[in-house]
Amino acid sequence: MNHGDKEFSGKVAIVTGAAMGIGQAVAELLAERGAKVAIVDRDEVPAKEVADTLSARGFEVRAIATDVSSGAQVAACIAEVVDAWGRIDIVSNNAGIQRYGTVETTTESEWDEVIDINLKSVYLVCHHAIPHLRKTRGAIVNMASVQSFATQRGVAAYTTGKHALIGLTRSMALDFAG
Ligand SMILES: NC(=O)c1ccc[n+]([C@@H]2O[C@H](COP(=O)([O-])OP(=O)(O)OC[C@H]3O[C@@H](n4cnc5c(N)ncnc54)[C@H](O)[C@@H]3O)[C@@H](O)[C@H]2O)c1
Repeated sequence: MNHGDKEFSGKVAIVTGAAMGIGQAVAELLAERGAKVAIVDRDEVPAKEVADTLSARGFEVRAIATDVSSGAQVAACIAEVVDAWGRIDIVSNNAGIQRYGTVETTTESEWDEVIDINLKSVYLVCHHAIPHLRKTRGAIVNMASVQSFATQRGVAAYTTGKHALIGLTRSMALDFAG
């Protein structure tokens, strides 16, 4: 990979779960390659730290504190990006949580938390971003897992959400890729 390439120059990217981990790395790489990047995360302080570090390196980024499992917060986040930069070209759905348990031991609130953050959030972000992505012929990348295709013991909700994410991604591809 040539990190000197500015292949995303002029493009606007939204990266969820970008305050740490894989999302942070995606946000950094997109910024290094020329994109303006929205650092979207429910953890406001580390998201701002990531944004401040990238800004200090001369990249155009902004931290947007958002719980991506909330439709109202996602709508406000997308509106803020479009108000600031006028377009959306790339959506990288990374926000996710891991919880452990079988169907017997997983509580209803744990089940809802995992499905809301790992699956419903992707619907919400895409629902609000696609009208803007249509205009730019933009792209969506969803962060799945080996547990989208296989499973192990004690991860019932996580595996369910990640399997379903593949179905959602396939469905959106058929509906919008053309
Ligand atoms: N780390 C792995 O080995 C691995 C393997 C396969 C898939 N994944 C997937 O990759 C993605 C990132 O994983 P990671 O290991 O970098 O995770 P991480 O825990 O390091 O980072 C996840 C980020 O998402 C944010 N987040 C969580 N819930 C959120 C919400 N409701 N709204 C907004 N932000 C929220 C967290 O604050 C955190 O900054 C996840 O979707 C995960 O399921 C990770």
